Amino acid sequence: MKLIIANWKCNPQTLAEAKKLFNGVKDTGAIICPPFIYLSVFNYKFLGAQDCHYEQSGAFTGEVSPKMLKDLGCKYVIIGHSERRIHLQETDEMINKKLKAALKKGLTPILCVGEKKGEKAEIVVGNQLNKDLEGIAKKNLNKIIIAYEPVWAISTSGGGYCSPERANEVRKIIKRKVTNKIIYGGSVDSKDVKGYLDIGFEGVLVGSASLDAKEFVKINKNA
Ligand code: PGA
Repeated sequence: MKLIIANWKCNPQTLAEAKKLFNGVKDTGAIICPPFIYLSVFNYKFLGAQDCHYEQSGAFTGEVSPKMLKDLGCKYVIIGHSERRIHLQETDEMINKKLKAALKKGLTPILCVGEKKGEKAEIVVGNQLNKDLEGIAKKNLNKIIIAYEPVWAISTSGGGYCSPERANEVRKIIKRKVTNKIIYGGSVDSKDVKGYLDIGFEGVLVGSASLDAKEFVKINKNA
């Protein structure tokens, strides 16, 4: 089964709009990752968070722990998204701790890796994987979904076009290192989703296009 994942990021701005969007996409059976604040409102089998803290409890103002997410019925959590790496200075060391904390509570992490414009994908992605996955027990390693997201191809941070062929070169590099499920993210829409899946990706992580219910339903149909 293909993994189709919606990353709503910091959208929509009101609960009423979030409910409307959710009602428009919930029948797809896709994994939906709304902002934390809406998670408890949606009673849904394939709910994911966009981040978690690396400790389960304690004096960490503003943080949300894997334990809390699990209690709310979350099954998935995005970890290490490039926007957090870039804007919130999230380091590979933090990401490694978050992955371990999420796995400990039985959440399925969606680990995002990818190079910025001008960087060599092979080196950057290789380093990220080495550091992010360090010390994770073999029995847990394969539970992690790896999302290859070239930063320059994300709609809101460059919006460049990474063709399925080009993305596949990096998928093959990742495949040589790990046996995990690998999905693609970066401006995916209903027209190009099939190309990424046909070439070998096992799913897609969708940002902007997941905020348009009709378009997201189409992505799922075309996948
Ligand atoms: P995009 O975002 O589909 O808007 O490019 C993908 C992501 O950042 O996960």
